[in-house]
Amino acid sequence: MHRRSHLKKPTWIIILVSLVCVFLVVVYIYPPRDSTACYIFSSSSCQTFSRWRPPPERELSDEEIAARVVIKNLLNTPSIETKNPKIAFMFLSPGSLAFERLWDKFFQGHEGKFSIHIHASKVKPVHYSHYFQNCEIHSDKVDWGKISMVDAEKRLLANALKDPDNQHFVLLSDSCVPLRSFEYVYSYLIYTDVSFIDSFEDPGPHGNGRYSDHMLPEVEKKHFRKGAQWFTLKRQHAIIVIADSLYYTKFKDYCRPGMDGRNCYAYEHYLPTFFHMFDPSGIANWSVTHVDWSERKWHPKSYGLKDVSLQLIKNLTSITESVHETSNEKRVTTITPCMWNGMNRPCYLFARKFLPETLNTMINLYSSYTTI
Ligand SMILES: *[C@@H]1O[C@H](CO)[C@@H](O)[C@H](O)[C@H]1NC(C)=O
Ligand SMILES: *[C@@H]1O[C@H](CO)[C@@H](O)[C@H](O)[C@H]1NC(C)=O
Repeated sequence: MHRRSHLKKPTWIIILVSLVCVFLVVVYIYPPRDSTACYIFSSSSCQTFSRWRPPPERELSDEEIAARVVIKNLLNTPSIETKNPKIAFMFLSPGSLAFERLWDKFFQGHEGKFSIHIHASKVKPVHYSHYFQNCEIHSDKVDWGKISMVDAEKRLLANALKDPDNQHFVLLSDSCVPLRSFEYVYSYLIYTDVSFIDSFEDPGPHGNGRYSDHMLPEVEKKHFRKGAQWFTLKRQHAIIVIADSLYYTKFKDYCRPGMDGRNCYAYEHYLPTFFHMFDPSGIANWSVTHVDWSERKWHPKSYGLKDVSLQLIKNLTSITESVHETSNEKRVTTITPCMWNGMNRPCYLFARKFLPETLNTMINLYSSYTTI
């Protein structure tokens, strides 16, 4: 009798302890979520259990820890106020700018509130406007679709950042035209705290279909985004782009034409993905440069002489919703109102692709459409 209970007691304790352990493990893996469970365990124990859960994140590499701490600190550093905030207009072009005389009208009377930077990748430009004299930066070859396009963008940003008065940075092409007056563009970009970077999730072949698992672990497919190349960046974001090398290198190596038998274009994915990952509420998710993809061809619609009229410009400037369409068979269309400082506002400040033949018509229309 004495001997039996001596044996039984530890067995009983072991069983009890095991049961408690199993219970704790189950609760640990499936923490109580509904209010009844929380009531039974009392709300404080619910919090304890969720606090106990290990962070779901994998262990970060040294490079990622370093990159993230730099990005986070730059995002938390308020930008330095300058007495004379300026906008940097950065032109990415093979050579001369077809619309220089139109831009000349745009800039007239606003000296001191802007700077111009030109990356001419093929031919030294001929200038028609004194605002554009001596604005070329050191350039290099740009291969369409390759990382050299992003390199040219970074070169423009680095040069434009040298001027501490530059607070907002606009990337434009030689086929871009202004849709608004300088004052309108200036207020639109300076008096807001976001960058206008186009970014949306496209599950189709021209979106996630271009993602490569080689981007793991730093860039996950669920974060992969697509967007038009033509961005505007606030100063803080421009500095972050220059500071980043880790994520840039991932896109350079694994988002390129012919990657895994598919064509990935870094200039359409790197910044939309990068800012979606690190500052999603700091980007507008649409581009302020209008382009018309409605013809569903490989290239967007080009506006020629027969297309350009005051009515066309009025139509483009009255758009207040941005539209995104997925590239899969479902072609899901998402329409989002363009919100500027919490108010629904026209989406577009610039437009492309305008053919050089439209220059004189656009110059003639400029004073009419900028006073509407
Ligand atoms: C942009 O989209 C992301 C989701 O992808 C969202 O979290 C963010 O709030 C959006 N930005 C703005 C300014 O609405
Ligand atoms: C402007 O928009 C109206 C209404 O959507 C359309 O009927 C017209 O064809 C457009 N005009 C131009 C020149 O784009």
